[in-house]
Amino acid sequence: MNRRSFLRHSAAFAALPILRPESDRVFVPGMQPAPLRVNGARLNGWLAGFDRIGRTAGGINRVAYSEADLAGRAFTLDLFREAGLTPRVDTAGNIFGRIDGTDRSLRPILIGSHVDSVTDGGNFDGPVGSFGALEVAHSLREQAVRLRHPLDVVVWSNEEGGTIGSKCAIGYLKPADLDKVARSGKTIREGIGLVGGDVARLSEAVLKKGDLACYIELHIEQGGLLEKAGLQIGVVEGIVGLRWFEITITGFSNHAGTTPMDQRQDAMLAAAKFTVAVNEAVRGVPGRTVATVGRVTVTPNTTNVIPGQVVLTVDLRDLDAAKVEQFTQRFEQLGREIGAATRTTFAFSRTVDSAPAISDQKVMTWIDGAARSLGLTRQRMPSGAGHDAQEIAHIASMAMIFVPSVGGISHSPREFTKPEDVVNGANVLLNAVVAADR
Ligand code: GLV
Ligand code: MN
Ligand code: MN
Repeated sequence: MNRRSFLRHSAAFAALPILRPESDRVFVPGMQPAPLRVNGARLNGWLAGFDRIGRTAGGINRVAYSEADLAGRAFTLDLFREAGLTPRVDTAGNIFGRIDGTDRSLRPILIGSHVDSVTDGGNFDGPVGSFGALEVAHSLREQAVRLRHPLDVVVWSNEEGGTIGSKCAIGYLKPADLDKVARSGKTIREGIGLVGGDVARLSEAVLKKGDLACYIELHIEQGGLLEKAGLQIGVVEGIVGLRWFEITITGFSNHAGTTPMDQRQDAMLAAAKFTVAVNEAVRGVPGRTVATVGRVTVTPNTTNVIPGQVVLTVDLRDLDAAKVEQFTQRFEQLGREIGAATRTTFAFSRTVDSAPAISDQKVMTWIDGAARSLGLTRQRMPSGAGHDAQEIAHIASMAMIFVPSVGGISHSPREFTKPEDVVNGANVLLNAVVAADR
């Protein structure tokens, strides 16, 4: 898949289907009813309340399976109840709640996002879509709008650690993944247990192709395209593929004062050369590939010892799976070359792999129509961030709704989305769900 395939699909906006009077709304044939609206003050109030959980001097710290994540999930469980949904935690630790539909033969429409954060992150990446989905359910109940389909709200577990909860939901988590250590310091196995899951029964969390009518996720853009274009809504056409590596560079620790410069096996020097080489390799090829060395652990990490070992991470992304593969090969080759030049060895391991995903035309049309009915400006666009939606795309039709991020900043304590944009996004989600139900 490549970006051009997204852009081929022109924005053919379909009219928002007319609501049937399952609710007390008046149905006039040939006339478009006013779009539904969420309670925006309530939604932004929930977000403001959530901002207190896991807030530290560095930003929001609700990394999956931490104390703050558990507190965030408890807060979220209360919101399920407040919205009139009985929450259920599946064996992977994902939280689900349902509003029954009027037609028992129909499959559920699923909406939601996540509430865990990165280290030193913000309060909007995840919670906007999770609480937005809860607000949609709350508004539908409050306004006595009965859908034909069941409506399921989901809050996925451990999105930031590699979409772990949604990978479990499509049966893609490998047994070896359970022993990987998450940012909280706990293994995924321990973490899933902590949040109320049960790794011995993970297969019970698996959703099969055909189990869902569709999946729609509201999220902040996390980039600056919407703000630059002065637009209110992004209709996501596809989500980048993402691959994470953990690379162990082994040299030899020795005395920093007595070891001549030409006799060192300096793992830190090799890591520095590799970091620059990764950046130059990606910049040297036209396209939208991105790669980041984000974490470096140096041993022994002291002033007067030549570093004997460095463990670093690389985050590699592109909309085209072939490009991800091509750069994987290139990075491994760079490791061999730099290893030979610095007398160190590079050992690569892949910690996360998520394939690129393309959105469903029909679901995008429902989102387009919902935004149009609300008078909101919009564009179709790709997502450079990874999302649970890209995992669910393996088993269901999906699309995402983006709202602007101020300054294009995210994964940062300065992440911010204006309250009116949060409300716009939730209103689009609400009306897209109604359209999907038709
Ligand atoms: C998730 O937010 C990611 O894109 O890393
Ligand atoms: Mn994120
Ligand atoms: Mn997110």
